[in-house]
Amino acid sequence: MILAELKEQTRAQHENLETIVDVMNKMFTRDDYEILLTKFYRFYSAVEPRVYANDTAANGIDASERSKIKWLESDLSALGALDKAKELPVLTDIPVLDSPAKAFGAMYVMEGATLGGQVITRHLKQHLGLTPENGGSFFNSYGSRVGPMWKEFGQAITAFADGHHNNNEIVQAAKDTFDCFARCFSNVAEVPA
Ligand code: HEM
Repeated sequence: MILAELKEQTRAQHENLETIVDVMNKMFTRDDYEILLTKFYRFYSAVEPRVYANDTAANGIDASERSKIKWLESDLSALGALDKAKELPVLTDIPVLDSPAKAFGAMYVMEGATLGGQVITRHLKQHLGLTPENGGSFFNSYGSRVGPMWKEFGQAITAFADGHHNNNEIVQAAKDTFDCFARCFSNVAEVPA
């Protein structure tokens, strides 16, 4: 089972991210949120196109439905921070995702993040008054469809892995993507407030 393997093999990396992505604490401010979104934007703008340069549609994944860049742009725009974010240097230290298996590994990380997004959305509303309409659309992602979208992704990756027997390649790409994400977030100097 590829999903169980991915969860097990990346558990420590996820735990580490929950510490780095310090959004759940009560001291988290609107400025902190702007910096956080800017980092997500930088990561997704670099990694997402590499994922969807693969023919994911052939494996049951519709890129236009799952792309998250539009939400990040809309949120940054709502905060008046999009122009500044676009001026940042493009992230170059990112994993090579030149096969459907590697694309699935990276997608696991990006689709899985929508699950945590639900918890974060509630927190943002409660502490910063942010809703999907006024700057919180990225973490809200598919809204009430988060569960079904994750289930559909699970079916697609499972069918792919069962047919190709390349679990190691998928898992390695997921690990590399988590690592890339952590580097992008730890590098505070590159994202000025
Ligand atoms: C403070 C930040 C975060 C919190 C609170 C959080 C929380 C969660 C929660 C509650 C789940 C659901 C667990 C379950 O249903 O079994 C989850 C799953 C997941 N999250 Fe996060 N998350 C955070 C950040 C991230 C980030 C930044 C990423 C990736 C870039 C990520 C990737 C994943 C993945 C891949 C899964 C799926 C795990 C699986 O079931 O295989 N998370 N997260």
